[in-house]
Amino acid sequence: MDDLPGIIRHHIAQHGGWLPFDRFMAIALYEPGLGYYANARAKFGQLAKDGSDFVTAPELTPLFGQTLARQVAQALAASGTDEVWEFGAGTGALALQVIEALDALGQPLRRYTIVDLSGSLRERQRATLGAHAERVHWADALPDTLHGVVLGNEVLDAMPVRLLARVGGVWHERGVALDAAGALAWADRATEARPPLEVDGEHDYVTEIHPQGEAFVRTLADRLQRGAAFLLDYGFPEAEYYHPQRAMGTLICHRQHRSDSDPLSDLGEKDITAHVNFTGIALAAQDAGLDVLGYTSQGRFLINCGLLDVAQHADVRQNAMMQKLVNEHEMGELFKVIALAPAGTGAAWLPLGFAAGDRTHRL
Ligand SMILES: C[S@@+](CC[C@H](N)C(=O)[O-])C[C@H]1O[C@@H](n2cnc3c(N)ncnc32)[C@H](O)[C@@H]1O
Repeated sequence: MDDLPGIIRHHIAQHGGWLPFDRFMAIALYEPGLGYYANARAKFGQLAKDGSDFVTAPELTPLFGQTLARQVAQALAASGTDEVWEFGAGTGALALQVIEALDALGQPLRRYTIVDLSGSLRERQRATLGAHAERVHWADALPDTLHGVVLGNEVLDAMPVRLLARVGGVWHERGVALDAAGALAWADRATEARPPLEVDGEHDYVTEIHPQGEAFVRTLADRLQRGAAFLLDYGFPEAEYYHPQRAMGTLICHRQHRSDSDPLSDLGEKDITAHVNFTGIALAAQDAGLDVLGYTSQGRFLINCGLLDVAQHADVRQNAMMQKLVNEHEMGELFKVIALAPAGTGAAWLPLGFAAGDRTHRL
């Protein structure tokens, strides 16, 4: 089978006529060769006319990676490690920024390993990182033990989510089925699953839960023996995530720098994403043996890491991009950073990025 709708139909039939949304999202994004992250679409970039769909911080300005590198340098030095592991490396832009900034800072980096579900992006990453080929490696999975600094920018939001819908006061799991005309359509089934926080009221309400993102953190906890992980993404603590007023959830699609709320159309041609419940990530991490070293907004984190210093000689254009990274109404507040480390090992050092304005207590 070589078309995504056909593959989805096949899976719906195999699951007895109803596919849970996380299975649908996994196929729509990652089906080899066809899924959004596995096909040849440009995806990342600043302008729709270049064929891109959305922009991420490292695509916006190298100041992002150069500033994050200061945090990476501190974590490498404090943990006595010399490797970086990046999940979901996109075009390789962040890797390039971090490698070159670490070199400029004089922080030894023996190896930079990229773990990505997307094979098509690997070629782009190879092209971006050609000058550092001897230190850059790719892995399909994590090794049994891991020593070093782990990075993931906008990776958790790309992990498949389950959808829960309260309709007429009764909770359902929302999945995908075929309607009478054979088209993909939403279909709800009764479920015992609930959001991690009770959602006050009886009004209709749609939201997401994140078993895959939390399982990812548990795997990380299992493997990370020494070092720290920094995960950056859009999202909030669970009290905000499951606020009664957020009745439409956070699931959204991105295509050509526009967003829409219909993941069932144009399969493979748009990104599908949900915000991150950072409380869920923190709890999964703690339960699996990691400490939360810090949690704050991206704006605060980058300023703490010395963004203004890094940007000292930036031109007007770069300054405008820098503003986007930190301004509250752009990426500064919606995006958050959480840092995790094997229990007990982080006690000896306070990560630079959380020196002021740490919000771990709000999780
Ligand atoms: C929104 S993109 C972010 C790309 C890049 N980090 C950036 O900031 O430009 C999400 C990436 O995460 C990858 N991804 C999703 N789940 C993953 C997992 N479990 N392990 C590794 N990569 C994953 C996707 O393949 C995709 O490349």
